[in-house]
Amino acid sequence: MSEPASTRKPDPGRCRVCGNDVVKFLDLGRQPLSDAFLTPKDIGHEFFYRLAVGFCADCTMVQLMEEVPRERMFHQDYPYHSSGSSVMREHFAETARRFLETELADTDDPFIVELGCNDGIMLKTVRDAGVRHLGFEPSGGVGRLAASEGIRVREDFFEERTAADVRGREGTADVIYAANTLCHIPYMDSVLRGVDTLLAPNGVFVFEDPYLGDIVERTSFDQIYDEHFFFFTARSVGEMARGAGLELVDVERLPVHGGEVRYTLARAEARPPSPAVAALLAEEAERGLADPGTLEAFANRVARHRDDLVALLRRLRAEGRTVAAYGATAKSATVTNYCGIGTELVAFVSDSTPAKQDRLSPGMHLPVVPPEVFAKARPDYALLFAWNHAEEIMRKEEDFARDGGRWILYVPEVRVV
Ligand code: SAH
Ligand code: TYD
Ligand code: ZN
Repeated sequence: MSEPASTRKPDPGRCRVCGNDVVKFLDLGRQPLSDAFLTPKDIGHEFFYRLAVGFCADCTMVQLMEEVPRERMFHQDYPYHSSGSSVMREHFAETARRFLETELADTDDPFIVELGCNDGIMLKTVRDAGVRHLGFEPSGGVGRLAASEGIRVREDFFEERTAADVRGREGTADVIYAANTLCHIPYMDSVLRGVDTLLAPNGVFVFEDPYLGDIVERTSFDQIYDEHFFFFTARSVGEMARGAGLELVDVERLPVHGGEVRYTLARAEARPPSPAVAALLAEEAERGLADPGTLEAFANRVARHRDDLVALLRRLRAEGRTVAAYGATAKSATVTNYCGIGTELVAFVSDSTPAKQDRLSPGMHLPVVPPEVFAKARPDYALLFAWNHAEEIMRKEEDFARDGGRWILYVPEVRVV
């Protein structure tokens, strides 16, 4: 077996899937860790890296040009709690029910392994059904939330070595599942070898992540930050699977998190691909999603949207309006730092996550406050950083709009609603 994934130094400018050249098409500059919310004593000691995105002309995978060491991002104090959204709780309950009714129904003693189980949002339903499961979760704090609810959690990164260890102790898995986690893992070669080791002969590897097709269509450049290393398409995932002895057998578009695709991989020739795979591949070809020109046009739109957003915020300030923000998302680190949005343009950010409250946002140091403070302050405008949860949040904050508050959105376009 090769050395652990984290200790090997990758070649800069080389595709982390196929090893060929990666060509940069977008540079978002020097950025802080997107989920590092600061206490005042952390100011001056922040970690920065260069956020730039490139495209592999060979396998078409879109990926970051620079990797942030994983221990800097995923640790005891990782603040993101998956269960903070009721829409996401229902989405993952439904996902689990579907596995229980299909892949996990026909075998005796079925086994499902999840990468990045976080606070147990999906495995909760599996636990309730009494089905054997294991969640990999390197971020100890959120992992313990899941464990405290009787979910089996391994505080570890999934990679070749840890996958082999699970295989040795517990046998093969019928389902390996990862939501918003596979795109977080630059050491894809190690992960895919791990999947090969752990997956049952007729098992499936299912993962869902933000879809490059939606990012390009909506110019949602804030999906680009340290934790999102890969931006998948059916084409790039298909190539990646092929290189690992696997095959893309199903795809499903999902509305969550601003547009995602759920990919299903099986061992080569184990299952016939569904017609949805060919259909999405054809759509991607039609849209030119793997053409450098499409990605360059996207990069130009990103710069335009930045200019539009900054111009709007400056105008509101000049008119004496008060502006706050809503949702201290990881995504907003890219927006605030790339656009240069500090407290002179946005007074504070409201967020329901206790681990983010009373801290400062990474890089631009916007104070993060609980929703009660937002309600009391009643700003004239609220910049919706958590635009992917727009419906849920606008429902919750009905009073804000009723009293004349206006929402500012910047996806797919900068606009006030
Ligand atoms: N699945 C949840 C959490 C997504 S956040 C959801 O969709 O809401 C990504 C999670 O992946 C984090 O909790 C992080 O700690 C975890 N993670 C990062 N690298 C990992 C790896 N190599 N193996 C397993 N989990 C990982
Ligand atoms: P999210 O968009 O899910 O992810 P990311 O951090 O990866 O960009 O983050 C949503 C944030 O918004 C999270 O910090 C919780 C917060 N939030 C609220 O404050 N109120 C809400 O009603 C919801 C749904 C989220
Ligand atoms: Zn490649």
